Amino acid sequence: MASLLFFLLLLAISTTEAQQGESNVNLGSFLTPTTNSSWLSRSGLYAFGFYQQANGYAVGVFLAGISEKTVVWTANRDNPPVLADATLNFTTDGRLILQSAQGKETNIASPSDSATSASMLDSGNFVIYNSNKKIIWQSFDNPTNTLLQGQRLRARNELVSSVSESNQSAGIFRLAMQTDGHLVQYPVGTPDTAEYSYWASGTNGQGDNVSLCLDDDGHLYLLNSTGTNIKNLTGGGYPTKDTIYLMRIDADGIFRLYSHNLDKNGNFSVIWSSSYVKCDPKGLCGLNGLCTINDQDANCLCLPGFASVDQRNWSSGCVRNFTAESCKSKDGNMKYIMQAVPNTVWEDNSFAILSILIKEDCEAACLEDCNCEAATYKDGICRKQKLPLRFGRRVLSDLNIAFIKVGISTSTINRTEPMGREEKSGKNILILGISLGAFGLIMPVISGIAFYRNRVWSYRLSNCGNVGTGMDVSPRSFTYSDLEKMTNGFKEELGRGSSGTVYKGTIWNDQKIVAVKRLEKVLREGEKEFQTEMKVIGRTHHKNLVCLLGYCHDGENKLLVYEYMSNGSLADILFKPEKKLCWNERIEIARNIAKGILYLHEECESQIIHCDIKPQNILMDEYRCPKISDFGLAKLLKPDQTNTNTAIRGTKGYVAPEWHRNQPVTIKADVYSFGIVLLELICYRKSVDWDLPEEEAILEEWAYYCFQAHDLSKLVIGLWCVLDEPSLRPSIKKVLLMLEGTVDIPIPPSPTYLLSTR
Ligand SMILES: *[C@@H]1O[C@H](CO)[C@@H](O)[C@H](O)[C@H]1NC(C)=O
Ligand SMILES: *[C@@H]1O[C@H](CO)[C@@H](O)[C@H](O)[C@H]1NC(C)=O
Ligand SMILES: *[C@@H]1O[C@H](CO)[C@@H](O)[C@H](O)[C@H]1NC(C)=O
Ligand SMILES: *[C@@H]1O[C@H](CO)[C@@H](O)[C@H](O)[C@H]1NC(C)=O
Ligand SMILES: *[C@@H]1O[C@H](CO)[C@@H](O)[C@H](O)[C@H]1NC(C)=O
Ligand SMILES: *[C@@H]1O[C@H](CO)[C@@H](O)[C@H](O)[C@H]1NC(C)=O
Ligand SMILES: *[C@@H]1O[C@H](CO)[C@@H](O)[C@H](O)[C@H]1NC(C)=O
Ligand SMILES: *[C@@H]1O[C@H](CO)[C@@H](O)[C@H](O)[C@H]1NC(C)=O
Ligand SMILES: *[C@@H]1O[C@H](CO)[C@@H](O)[C@H](O)[C@H]1NC(C)=O
Ligand SMILES: *[C@@H]1O[C@H](CO)[C@@H](O)[C@H](O)[C@H]1NC(C)=O
Repeated sequence: MASLLFFLLLLAISTTEAQQGESNVNLGSFLTPTTNSSWLSRSGLYAFGFYQQANGYAVGVFLAGISEKTVVWTANRDNPPVLADATLNFTTDGRLILQSAQGKETNIASPSDSATSASMLDSGNFVIYNSNKKIIWQSFDNPTNTLLQGQRLRARNELVSSVSESNQSAGIFRLAMQTDGHLVQYPVGTPDTAEYSYWASGTNGQGDNVSLCLDDDGHLYLLNSTGTNIKNLTGGGYPTKDTIYLMRIDADGIFRLYSHNLDKNGNFSVIWSSSYVKCDPKGLCGLNGLCTINDQDANCLCLPGFASVDQRNWSSGCVRNFTAESCKSKDGNMKYIMQAVPNTVWEDNSFAILSILIKEDCEAACLEDCNCEAATYKDGICRKQKLPLRFGRRVLSDLNIAFIKVGISTSTINRTEPMGREEKSGKNILILGISLGAFGLIMPVISGIAFYRNRVWSYRLSNCGNVGTGMDVSPRSFTYSDLEKMTNGFKEELGRGSSGTVYKGTIWNDQKIVAVKRLEKVLREGEKEFQTEMKVIGRTHHKNLVCLLGYCHDGENKLLVYEYMSNGSLADILFKPEKKLCWNERIEIARNIAKGILYLHEECESQIIHCDIKPQNILMDEYRCPKISDFGLAKLLKPDQTNTNTAIRGTKGYVAPEWHRNQPVTIKADVYSFGIVLLELICYRKSVDWDLPEEEAILEEWAYYCFQAHDLSKLVIGLWCVLDEPSLRPSIKKVLLMLEGTVDIPIPPSPTYLLSTR
């Protein structure tokens, strides 16, 4: 059935010209919202007519042949929906009008000539003919937010996003095909200038009649007026059998190419996207808002001292939650302080630019200036600004710091004096912490920074897994001589890692084999702190974590006693060719590692960042179930940056790139390392292997090639995990859901794409 539909569809597309003589809607026909509500195209794929919108009806073109009734065009999209008593009348005198019961008339189309017939074509184009069977109006020439196969977005036209998926009224983003050959995205209501654009094709100067085209095979490209392809957005060549493609600028401001398989009753899936950073579209958050990324989704916050105008409508922005008074008056009820918001950028609309050495002076300069309402500081440049602040967003890789002037009534100041609030700027770190507390989403960043700077870990005791060993839950303390005895004088070495050397030993009268790890490069730690750490680690129990049985803190000697894993590490299994693992085994291993990390990240009362996920730290028990070892040690060990090989062409091994930058390290660093391990598991090779040809040597890069060629879904998860920008990486929970097939795996951005937009 679907194939037949599709055949007809193809036929319809390829014979659009020939079909000019054909019509299936005659003068005098009419539609009502409830009975005979639409005119179908021949194959039944598209329909023109009424569709439900909110509590009423709108008129437009929609995909009728699939379960998801997708609207692709709407007439008079900003008019309110009509009631069930309306009539769409193709009048005998050749007008297409919407009539309300009260007799109000609205034109649906305004052809240049008088119409004699109309047709809903199988391409999705609704056309009106004159008496010479010439097309005098078509929906393809009046696009809203969608481009269909065969449709072109010509110079001087633009697509405008909808308010939301369910409200087809004009939203706040546009995609303009300019007369300079440039295809550019802007917020609605801004001039066509570079400072407002948030995406551009880079084809300016390529002639004045360039158009955006979408072909049947998903090829999306720009064509100049002499018919030369000047830029490919997608390569095309996607399957054409039973598949339709459409391009749409979505309500979130990003334009995407979607495909839909008519054979399967699935949904549309994204095959290309103009951006993968949901905060890119300028103005998503409205005035004085701040766009942040949370697990790949955009989230709007208000700047400090501001409150949301309408919680449900991000674009309504934020307004000050205090009334500003004359800032000079000393006896007013208002005092002003500067609140810092790190890693934040917005539209530069500064009225003064100062060269200042330290950020504290920038803060003070704005505080003293009654005209200054906010300031940004970066690289010795202080920019003073007035409200409103537009296009604010969090950029983790940017070292910009923003200061916002916030007024607080003096009674508040008096009450909070003991907390260290002072007008004097500069030592406001505490204030920053307190005030940002209200902005829950900023906190992970702050704590990430705190962790990075001070390596402060907050463990709380938790006991969320099953013990399984039947032993006392907390690990016991051993003396050094105990351990000497257990290991027979540290006789048998099992392995050597970055944190120390591991020896084989036995406890319980030689009944149980254990692994004793002698920690090297341990930070100077008091015995009490060490014991606290050990107790905390000892109380984490999960089937995918190695169990800590005991520890020893004896002067200089610090040792840990773990359960023994008879099958070595994942590295032994994976990189030694004699023990081949089948595909299912490897995916099962990946799932179990992810579960172990999920436990560390989310399932304990407080979070543990492992910081050193790699195959050498994943041990295999007798059933080849992987268990993560060395978790919780990051706090005890000295940072060992020299060990990582940063010299080789951006290779990071398993270490997330933010470690090498001055950036906060969060749980996403573990996701990165996991991504590398997953790619290794899938491709059955080391992450860096110089024995291979150069283009294959770095797994991350080679994997992206593989992905482009074959579309292996698990590989794609790995690619998501190893994205450079931590906020774009999925959480480990999402990784697990993707591995288990519970959630869809979106197409990852190309790593080079992200690098080039930085
Ligand atoms: C629907 O329209 C067709 C012709 O266009 C007509 O024959 C039929 O009676 C109409 N059905 C209803 C319920 O009005
Ligand atoms: C759709 O959005 C517009 C613009 O925000 C709003 O005025 C209109 O009421 C909304 N329509 C419906 C049906 O919700
Ligand atoms: C369609 O419009 C014509 C002319 O305005 C009118 O005579 C006719 O009654 C209308 N038909 C319907 C069904 O409203
Ligand atoms: C279209 O592009 C081709 C190839 O770049 C160029 O030769 C031609 O002059 C262009 N046409 C116009 C109208 O710019
Ligand atoms: C571009 O299109 C406009 C309007 O269709 C036309 O007037 C103009 O001559 C065209 N320019 C070129 C170079 O084809
Ligand atoms: C775009 O891709 C097509 C093949 O799909 C190729 O023939 C063409 O040269 C490409 N155009 C540009 C400008 O890269
Ligand atoms: C299609 O999308 C809808 C709504 O987004 C969702 O509920 C449904 O599960 C999806 N179906 C498939 C097959 O993915
Ligand atoms: C304004 O909002 C901040 C949080 O952003 C809050 O701490 C402060 O008390 C509010 N001020 C007023 C006057 O409501
Ligand atoms: C959201 O707020 C903006 C700005 O105030 C307004 O233009 C728009 O209509 C609102 N949208 C909705 C859906 O209410
Ligand atoms: C707050 O403190 C100022 C001096 O710092 C004092 O003049 C004022 O009366 C105090 N206000 C209240 C409400 O206690």
